[in-house]
Amino acid sequence: MTGRFPSQCRKIRPSFGRRLRNIEMSKFRHRSLHLLGVLLTGLLFTLLAACSKANPQSTFDTLGPVSRNQATILYVIAGVGTFVFILVFGILAYTVIRYRRRSPDDPDPPQIHGNDKLEVAWTIAPAIVLIAVAVPTLQGIFYAANPPTEARLTVEATGHQWWFEFKYPELGVVTANEMHIPEDEAVIVELRSVDVNHSFWVPKLAGKVDMIPNNENRLWLQADESGMYYGQCAEFCGESHAKMRFRVVVEPRAEFDAWVARQQAAAAVPGDPLAKEGHDLFMSNQARCFACHTIAGTQKARGTVGPNLTHFASRQHLAAGNLENTQENLRMWLEDPDAVKPGNLMSRDAAVYNGQGEPLTEPQISALVAFLRSLE
Ligand code: CUA
Repeated sequence: MTGRFPSQCRKIRPSFGRRLRNIEMSKFRHRSLHLLGVLLTGLLFTLLAACSKANPQSTFDTLGPVSRNQATILYVIAGVGTFVFILVFGILAYTVIRYRRRSPDDPDPPQIHGNDKLEVAWTIAPAIVLIAVAVPTLQGIFYAANPPTEARLTVEATGHQWWFEFKYPELGVVTANEMHIPEDEAVIVELRSVDVNHSFWVPKLAGKVDMIPNNENRLWLQADESGMYYGQCAEFCGESHAKMRFRVVVEPRAEFDAWVARQQAAAAVPGDPLAKEGHDLFMSNQARCFACHTIAGTQKARGTVGPNLTHFASRQHLAAGNLENTQENLRMWLEDPDAVKPGNLMSRDAAVYNGQGEPLTEPQISALVAFLRSLE
């Protein structure tokens, strides 16, 4: 049938209102296109930035067998997806251009219903594509879920708002925000939470796994090289979720064993007078630090609400991996913890305030800093 677009229509002069509307529409379209361009450019830059190998949390810079396996799955899926995308859109573009209506008088093309060969083909082809994606994915799921039998070290990682606790049950070591593991050895990490859902993620070593209250999850990881790896909570868990970080310190077996031996020792009683003053304040009802923190080897400091501080000075970072463990940063943290990690319990429960509801004085902070820095 012809004449669906009568050529005389175009000869009718549009009304003034309509022309105005057309101008408005084209302006709107122009602005929309401009906005879309800006958005796409922004997205492209964001994506490209994420690909940078220098990025300490890049999942593309794989440094362990688990992350490598997971990246391979990503590459397979991205490759198959790109192939399908190019094929489908190539055929679509070819068809749209090749069979377009060239003149208003063109007749409708023949209307065809059903083609057995084509239908069989486009059932089988996606099935093959799905199998190509499913095989490595399923293999990867089983690989990540089953630690190698030679894995000898288990770490219990517990999520707290907002820090990570690491226990080594076989070794009697408890630490926070800095997980040490030996190089080139499979390590099992048991994941728990004491409050809300968190997620344990060391991008270069293994994909994220949730830490769920009352439901233990497990993962395993292994690092090829010694060094420090960045970890991050990857499940929104409240105000300071973005500041819930940790580090994985990978070292040769001998260094790891030496670290374990140091961590197993009880804290030494400080000899320095200022540190001793800090110790006494820590244990006093004025500062009440002992109520939330454990310092092994002391009678009083047995709290488990906050990080175990027995060997606090041996850690490279403080405040859940947010600050380097330096004297100035420790002072800043004690002066105003809320400014470093908003909403944390130490601010809320006023542990940094003395019995009269007043903030700790400068001399008190100096004493606490001296004490904490003596806990090697
Ligand atoms: Cu813990 Cu987000």
